Amino acid sequence: MTYVPGWKIHDIYLQVGNVRQRKTLMGESSCEGLFLCKLPEETPPAEAIFVDKVRIGLIGVWGRGRMARHWHESDRAEVVAGADINEAYLAKFRETLNPDAFVTTDYRRLLERKDIDAIAIFSPDYMHEEHAIAALEAGKHVFCEKPLAITTQGCDRILRAWKRSGKQLMVGFNMRYMNMIRTMKEIVDSGVIGEVRAVWCRHFVGFGGDFYYHDWHGTRENTTSLLLQKGSHDIDVIHWITGKYTKRVTAFGSLDYFGGDKPNDLTCDDCPEVRTCPEAQPGSTRVQCAFRREIDVEDNNMVLMDMEGGVKAAYLQCHFTPDYHRNYTFIGTEGRLENSEPEGKVWVKTRRSWSKHWKELSDRTYEIKRAEGGHGGADPVICEDFLDMVIDGKEPVATPEAGRMSVAVGCAAAHSLRNGGIPVDIAPIAWEE
Ligand SMILES: NC(=O)c1ccc[n+]([C@@H]2O[C@H](COP(=O)([O-])OP(=O)(O)OC[C@H]3O[C@@H](n4cnc5c(N)ncnc54)[C@H](O)[C@@H]3O)[C@@H](O)[C@H]2O)c1
Repeated sequence: MTYVPGWKIHDIYLQVGNVRQRKTLMGESSCEGLFLCKLPEETPPAEAIFVDKVRIGLIGVWGRGRMARHWHESDRAEVVAGADINEAYLAKFRETLNPDAFVTTDYRRLLERKDIDAIAIFSPDYMHEEHAIAALEAGKHVFCEKPLAITTQGCDRILRAWKRSGKQLMVGFNMRYMNMIRTMKEIVDSGVIGEVRAVWCRHFVGFGGDFYYHDWHGTRENTTSLLLQKGSHDIDVIHWITGKYTKRVTAFGSLDYFGGDKPNDLTCDDCPEVRTCPEAQPGSTRVQCAFRREIDVEDNNMVLMDMEGGVKAAYLQCHFTPDYHRNYTFIGTEGRLENSEPEGKVWVKTRRSWSKHWKELSDRTYEIKRAEGGHGGADPVICEDFLDMVIDGKEPVATPEAGRMSVAVGCAAAHSLRNGGIPVDIAPIAWEE
């Protein structure tokens, strides 16, 4: 039996073998008394685990880290600490989220703390591997933003650390929690379009310049490829909705608009061309020149995916489009599914036939419900799923394996497009070193 003195108990967990049951307690009472009276007579010897709130520490408190407010607003969690290399961001974090939070510029100080149950990683992509492995080795549950790491091998190292640790890990695939994506998954799972054979995703990254070419995202050293950034979401959605992983890819891509010959240290704030440059965003948090020399990640990518079960998929990503949305098409043996983010709709068209034996169903239009919260309402839901995972041991919708597989596809596609479009096989997860 584990009892942590000083905790205000509102939930008690009875663990019998692998089964953990939650009992919510009302009012004040002594732990010993409650433990005894809550146990049915036939219950075999059990471990009781008393839980107050999941106490979460963040690595990377600003930018995406601000999503952590959903945990802090929940009655099942509180954000109690933050690590960041930027002291101004740490100050803003305390000011806006929790004035009593422990803050540090050295993430290892966070991991040493016994009063932190879980770590949420919102640092830049190239730090995820180090931060995730260190947090798991420190005995913390981990929420890691996508991409899980910037190499396939790095993802495998995280997965092995996860298995060794016995702790819980999930990846920040919030698209899996969006109403539109969930609706599409439900439709495919229902079988109404038959067996999926082809998937096309056109990704118009209208804010590509703002998000990816004005800061650290612009170099291969930091990101490998933007197929791991935005692309990791879409590759994952294709995997998730079809229920198949990619086996092999071939890709073409190039840097057609961003990058150039401007100095690497030029910023919009100091640029003599600030008034005429189409990409200038002075005063923003991202002000590195989008046309600087060091930029080497492609802004125009086309990937063909050969998937399990013979499914074929195409993922097309362009970072200099005027509009911002994703258009998916899933074609099955009996129909076709397509979405429109701008219209908030999903359409199902079923096949026509002269045969009397063909099951001719109706075409349908789904109006996607609007939801409150960031990323189409997905952020509060993914935060709740993380708490369900930590508290109840529920498998998250956004699994670590899925995080690894989408990175593996992005890395393989980057290798292909940088080597004349050669086909590249996706290696299975290396569970053993
Ligand atoms: N799932 C999503 O929808 C989504 C959306 C945006 C960003 N992200 C992911 O979140 C992560 C962060 O993205 P961002 O746009 O907020 O980046 P950012 O650069 O704006 O912010 C990262 C934060 O980490 C801090 N940081 C930088 N280096 C650090 C280090 N070594 N140790 C500790 N803290 C450090 C920064 O000071 C900043 O507070 C990325 O991996 C990105 O892919 C996911």
